[in-house]
Amino acid sequence: MASISQLEFEQRLIAFAGTIGTHLDRLLAVAGSRAPRLIEAMRYALLAPGKRMRPFIVAESARLFDVDAGQALHVGAALECVHCYSLIHDDLPAMDDDDLRRGRPSLHKAFDEATAILAGDALLTFAFEILGSVDTHRDASVRGELVADLAKAAGKDGMAGGQMLDLAAESENVADIDRIITLQAMKTGALFRFACLSGAIMGKAAERERSALAFYADRIGLAFQVADDILDVESSSAALGKSTGKDKAAGKATFVDLLGLTGAKAEARKLVGEAQDALALFGSRAVVLAAAADYVVGRRK
Ligand code: IPE
Ligand code: IPE
Ligand code: MG
Ligand code: MG
Ligand code: MG
Repeated sequence: MASISQLEFEQRLIAFAGTIGTHLDRLLAVAGSRAPRLIEAMRYALLAPGKRMRPFIVAESARLFDVDAGQALHVGAALECVHCYSLIHDDLPAMDDDDLRRGRPSLHKAFDEATAILAGDALLTFAFEILGSVDTHRDASVRGELVADLAKAAGKDGMAGGQMLDLAAESENVADIDRIITLQAMKTGALFRFACLSGAIMGKAAERERSALAFYADRIGLAFQVADDILDVESSSAALGKSTGKDKAAGKATFVDLLGLTGAKAEARKLVGEAQDALALFGSRAVVLAAAADYVVGRRK
């Protein structure tokens, strides 16, 4: 199968980060706002330099089905709003208590805790305002499906539920592999699953294509969190732009904790291979998604 190099992949991701950044900037203007401090806080979190992996995957999955790139950008923007909200709340003192995010003070440090909670709430709801807009898709049933799927991915059976399990595991201290897989699939995997499937929803893809993408998504979602847990041990806060070395101290349930660094790395590689195999159905159209799977575990930040 054809492929692209990691260098080319990273160049594409950086270029895309510029495009989605401009789009997010336009969607969330301060002008005319009745609560400017809230908007400033939302913009602080949303426009900070993230990798933009999730909206990138939305764009690539949409491309498989010849979906309009502007519509995919809109859906990617909604997903990035949910992701940024999850990061704001994840950093709060009651959760991971982290002072650094994307190389800058966390939102509750730059503003205050109450503003951070509200900015998170407002970003989560803004995501659905974006998805509900006719610019997202002219077909209301497609918009409805996107709204329902993102709500599920973000909510009790997805990201928020996974965060609950993540915090519970800190005090219970019983790490077993099935529990870790479940919590990571929920807290991190669910948003990746939405990223992959949103293209299929917009493109009204066949069931077989949706299942292949769901399989790919579950593997890269898990691999993404395993890599995050490895970076927490091996990288520095200067390189990552967030605190490191805290998972063990906090008693987080991670693959690294259970399998060690070597075991976790082998598991991540295995997941990447399985993810790439699932793309066979799409042939050379999926080369960028295949490279994305390598990037998920090879990334340095
Ligand atoms: C961090 O996500 C939170 C996890 C789910 C591990 P990213 O590593 O995608 O963070 P940004 O968006 O690039 O800052
Ligand atoms: C975060 O997992 C998952 C989210 C849903 C935000 P982590 O707590 O490990 O993410 P980082 O390391 O703070 O980015
Ligand atoms: Mg956390
Ligand atoms: Mg955290
Ligand atoms: Mg982490």
